[in-house]
Amino acid sequence: MTAQIIDITRDHDGALAQACAVLGDGLPVAIPTETVYGLAADATNPAAITRIYETKGRPRFNPLICHMSDLDMAERYAVFDPISRRLAGAFWPGPLTLILRLKPESGIHALATAGLDTVGIRLPKGFASELIRAFGKPLAAPSANTSGKVSPTSAAHVADDLGDKLALIIDGGAAPVGVESTIVRVENGVIRLLRPGGVAAEEIEKATGLAVIRPEGPTAIIEAPGMLASHYAPGAAVRLNADHVEAGEALIRLGSAPVRGMKLAAAVFDLSPSGDLAQAAANLFDYLKRADATGAVSIAVTPIPDHGLGEAINDRLARAAAPRE
Ligand code: TXA
Ligand code: MG
Repeated sequence: MTAQIIDITRDHDGALAQACAVLGDGLPVAIPTETVYGLAADATNPAAITRIYETKGRPRFNPLICHMSDLDMAERYAVFDPISRRLAGAFWPGPLTLILRLKPESGIHALATAGLDTVGIRLPKGFASELIRAFGKPLAAPSANTSGKVSPTSAAHVADDLGDKLALIIDGGAAPVGVESTIVRVENGVIRLLRPGGVAAEEIEKATGLAVIRPEGPTAIIEAPGMLASHYAPGAAVRLNADHVEAGEALIRLGSAPVRGMKLAAAVFDLSPSGDLAQAAANLFDYLKRADATGAVSIAVTPIPDHGLGEAINDRLARAAAPRE
C-alpha cells in the first residue's frame, strides 16, 4: 500500500470527503493538527483502533487521546469538573488535553482508553476539527509516527515513516505548534501536569489562578505511559546542554550566539535565532530529523531555558537523549 496524499490547500473538500470515507471503512488516516500530525481513527470502532496500534507498533496499554469537534461532543463522553470546564473554556480548541472521567456506555471503545475509567480529550483546531464534525464521531489519534520515534510535523514526515502502511495522508502544511498537547488532570481541585506541551504551564496558572503541580518520580510514567524514557528517539545520539560542538557532530542551537567548535559541525540548525521558544518548538522535531539525516553520529543541542514552551522542548529533548534499549 502506498498512501494517497491530498493537500488541503489544493483540494480541501476532496480531502474532507476522502478522509471521511476511509474513516468510515474503519481505517486510520493521517491528519494535520496544530500540534503534530495525528493517526486518526473512529474512537468507537475497535477494529479501527486496533489498526492504529498495529500501524504504530504501539504498546496497547498506552491509551489514546480522543479528539472532539466541540464541547457538546466532549460532554457526551466525559464528566467535567468545574476546573476542567474552565480550562476547556480558556484553551479549547487548542493544544491542551484534559484527562476526564469517562461516561459509562458513552461509546468510546475501551481499546482507545486502554480500559481506564478516564479518557484523554482535546479539541483540535483547523482541518482536524472540520473532519470530526463531518464524520460525526470522536477520533482517537496518537501522533502519526512509529512508536518511539520523533513525532511528525509535516505530511512528508508521515509519508517517510508510515507511507507504505497507510491509505491516506492529509497534507495541511507544517504543524504550527510543533510539540504535542499539554496533558493535565484535575483531581480534588488540584491541576496535575502529566505531560508538558503546546500550552505552557504558566498560561494554565494564569488562566485559573491555581498552581500546576508537576508529577514527582514514577507516577508520571504510570499515568501517561507515552512518557517512557527513550521516546522521540532519532538514530543519532543526542547530547544536551552542549557548550561546544565536537568535530562531525550536528548542532541544534537556540539563539544566534556562536558555539565553540561550530565550524567543524556537520550541519547547524537554528531553532530560533531570536531565542523565541514558540518558534523553537515549531522547528524542534523537523530539525531533529534533519540533523539525524546528516548521518552524524551525535547531535549536540545548546541549553534551552525551562520556562514557557521550553519545558515541553526540554522534556522531548530529554527523551530523545535517553539511553535506548
Ligand atoms: O498533540 C497531541 O496530543 C497529539 C495530537 C495528534 O493530538 N497526540 C498525541 O498522542 O500526542 P499520543 O498518543 O502520542 O500521546 C497521548 C498521551 C500518552 O502519553 C497517553 O499515555 C496519554 O496521552 N493518555 C491518553 N489517555 C490517557 C488517560 N486516560 N490517562 C492518562 N494518560 C492518558
Ligand atoms: Mg506520540
